[in-house]
Amino acid sequence: MTTIRLKLKNNGYPIIIGHDIFKDIPRCLERLSLGKDAIIISHPIIERLHGVKLFAILTKAGYSIKVFKVPEGEQSKSALYALRLIESIAAYDINRRIFIIALGGGVVGDLAGFVAAIYKRGVPYIQVPTTLLAQIDSSIGGKTAIDLKYGKNLVGAFCQPKAVFADTKVLSTLSSRQIRNGLAEAIKYGVIKDLVLFRFLENNYEYIFKHNHQAMTFVVKRCAKIKADVVTVDERETKGIRTILNFGHTLGHAIEAASGFRYHHGEAVALGMRVAGRISVLKGLLSLKEEKRLNDLITNIGLPQKIGNIKISKIIELMCHDKKFVASRNRFVLASRIGQVKVIENISIGIIVQAIESIS
Ligand SMILES: NC(=O)c1ccc[n+]([C@@H]2O[C@H](COP(=O)([O-])OP(=O)(O)OC[C@H]3O[C@@H](n4cnc5c(N)ncnc54)[C@H](O)[C@@H]3O)[C@@H](O)[C@H]2O)c1
Ligand SMILES: [Zn+2]
Repeated sequence: MTTIRLKLKNNGYPIIIGHDIFKDIPRCLERLSLGKDAIIISHPIIERLHGVKLFAILTKAGYSIKVFKVPEGEQSKSALYALRLIESIAAYDINRRIFIIALGGGVVGDLAGFVAAIYKRGVPYIQVPTTLLAQIDSSIGGKTAIDLKYGKNLVGAFCQPKAVFADTKVLSTLSSRQIRNGLAEAIKYGVIKDLVLFRFLENNYEYIFKHNHQAMTFVVKRCAKIKADVVTVDERETKGIRTILNFGHTLGHAIEAASGFRYHHGEAVALGMRVAGRISVLKGLLSLKEEKRLNDLITNIGLPQKIGNIKISKIIELMCHDKKFVASRNRFVLASRIGQVKVIENISIGIIVQAIESIS
């Protein structure tokens, strides 16, 4: 078991990573003094696969648990489900001191975190991420959100969890598609900061698909550490440092929404990274050789190569709703080599369109 400490001025927290660590959760929770009334927010499938075990462990340790489930898929990250959850929690929360456990992937994590942020102006929550994507990215850093029809994550709050428990054993039930989805974010970390990780992914991605837990744990630890370090120095994305985590996301979010969420987050980010790589080349920042290396890894992992049947104008329109568009100036994270990126503002629409066309 490894603990990475995300250090913040007021509300730092541990990210605990290991294989088969559910049994250690009660002991860690004791130290956080959150009380004994836990609300688990999850999906039906995850609840069945892993929630039952967590429920048993916590109940045995003296916790009183109430489980609320939302349907699978991005559509649950909505005002409708956030309010339904809040009303259910309020009905249950009489003479109690509750805390929330987000047991699931990024959808549950973002939604449960958002509910924790706004219910009673904030109640404590912990993250128990169950997808690779959630373990390496979404459960860490305190960005919580729901979507609007105008775009993803448009309503949200910064609200840090009290702890993150990333048990790589739960990843053994992920499908190949879900693994690919998480690996897209792992590639992102490689490009923005970590050539060693990038090389590891190039050489070992097959082991990850075989659920090799050493390879999986290596990737989770390496990525979680990068995320924690970036968030530590720029918690609220005010210093332009956290922005680098958005490599591939400016276009990725737009593609994800434009596809009607047919593309999952990581798949859309993979396409966004291809576009960002192309823009980096067009701006003279990245060599063709490095761009090919990025695209080859994306392809080998089985992530999408082409956008498919989506209008470029729709992608551009959705991109303009992105929070990263400040006063109509766009802002892109571009690569100068594998392991290093730069934040560049005001890329011309012509170049953006040309880059999207390269994967259309
Ligand atoms: N807050 C952040 O910083 C941040 C960062 C990155 C992504 N995100 C958000 O994360 C979301 C995507 O997260 P995701 O890719 O985890 O998708 P997801 O939460 O929808 O999970 C994908 C699917 O995997 C299933 N699943 C989860 N754990 C499983 C397990 N152990 N075994 C079998 N099936 C399992 C889920 O039921 C779901 O159907 C997006 O909404 C994205 O915006 C947020
Ligand atoms: Zn992402």
